[in-house]
Amino acid sequence: MHPAVMHPARSGGAWPRSVAPAGSTLGDSGDRRRAGEDEMSITDDDLETTTAAIAKLEGIEPSGDIGEFNARKLTFGPDKAVIGPVAHLAAERIRLTALEWEHFEVRQVGATLGGIVKGLDLSEPLADEVIDELHRAWVDYKVLFFRDQELTAEQHIDFARRFGELEVHPFLRNNDDRPELVRFAKDADTGGYENGWHHDVTWREVPSKGAILRAIEVPETGGDTLFCDMNAAYEGLSDDLKDRIEGLVAEHDYMQAFGHTITGADAAMMREKYPVVEHPVVIHHPISGKPLLYVNRFFTTRIVGLEPAESDDLLVTLFAQANTLEYHCRLHWHPNSIAMWDNLAVQHYASSDYWPDIRVMERASIVGVRPTF
Ligand code: SIN
Repeated sequence: MHPAVMHPARSGGAWPRSVAPAGSTLGDSGDRRRAGEDEMSITDDDLETTTAAIAKLEGIEPSGDIGEFNARKLTFGPDKAVIGPVAHLAAERIRLTALEWEHFEVRQVGATLGGIVKGLDLSEPLADEVIDELHRAWVDYKVLFFRDQELTAEQHIDFARRFGELEVHPFLRNNDDRPELVRFAKDADTGGYENGWHHDVTWREVPSKGAILRAIEVPETGGDTLFCDMNAAYEGLSDDLKDRIEGLVAEHDYMQAFGHTITGADAAMMREKYPVVEHPVVIHHPISGKPLLYVNRFFTTRIVGLEPAESDDLLVTLFAQANTLEYHCRLHWHPNSIAMWDNLAVQHYASSDYWPDIRVMERASIVGVRPTF
């Protein structure tokens, strides 16, 4: 019997562990569909879904050995660009494809991340079981998208609060009446400066666990937001590189991104309030348990214990992992679209290709837990 068929019952924490541990091949949609039933029982439906998924997986990976398959890739050009199937995505892609949900539908958009959720009106107070299921889907797909959600600022905040306490950003402009919402208002005078891969606020000791971004006014073309799966980015590293970064810690600092906005006495006050912090270079997701590459171009400044040149070289290599297109999905915004990302599992990048058009967005960020090895 395939190990997936014997997938154990969910763990008993505050949140069910909705995602199979890293390295397993298939998820537990059967567990999720029949919450409350005997968790170890396997039905015909489960077997059918599982068998179909295994057959697909076997078709993609006939030798069963991703290492061998990767060895058949080609390298092109002076930079030795690697060309060929990104085989390590297959298991997670197939796992997501097999998921089913009780209170809404999700259409998967990227190989290993991104789901468009249909069937919910976020302006309504949603029942606890819907929020619980949405939280599990959020962990699985890493970023969820919604269309046509006409929310007021209050409704946006109310929805975000269902997932935890909200942060107030000390450097970015906030909504005048509701400081829990960061307001990104771009036009011909104020261009977009969010076009670099980053997790939000990793300069905090406890960075946000997620963010919910709502489009208010968007350009006809351009202004998309892109997302990168940082578990795929970690798993795509060579074994040598994985060994090299194991146990390393990096510094994160707001100065590069926001230093220019702080003047005079505020500078010393902010430094005292937000000292340079350290986070592991590879963290584990508190719910899925997946390893995630956790350094980003905006806020990570140095790897602790390495000579500056070695630290810079390693960071350049690690930052570049987020450029791999197969790890991405992207959203083209309409007014009233919403993106809800897991700020540990993905980095994001707001394409700044719409100047001098207007683009107005508001973001609520949910307080997380301190990232750990
Ligand atoms: C952000 O970096 O959080 C803003 C993303 C966006 O405006 O698309």
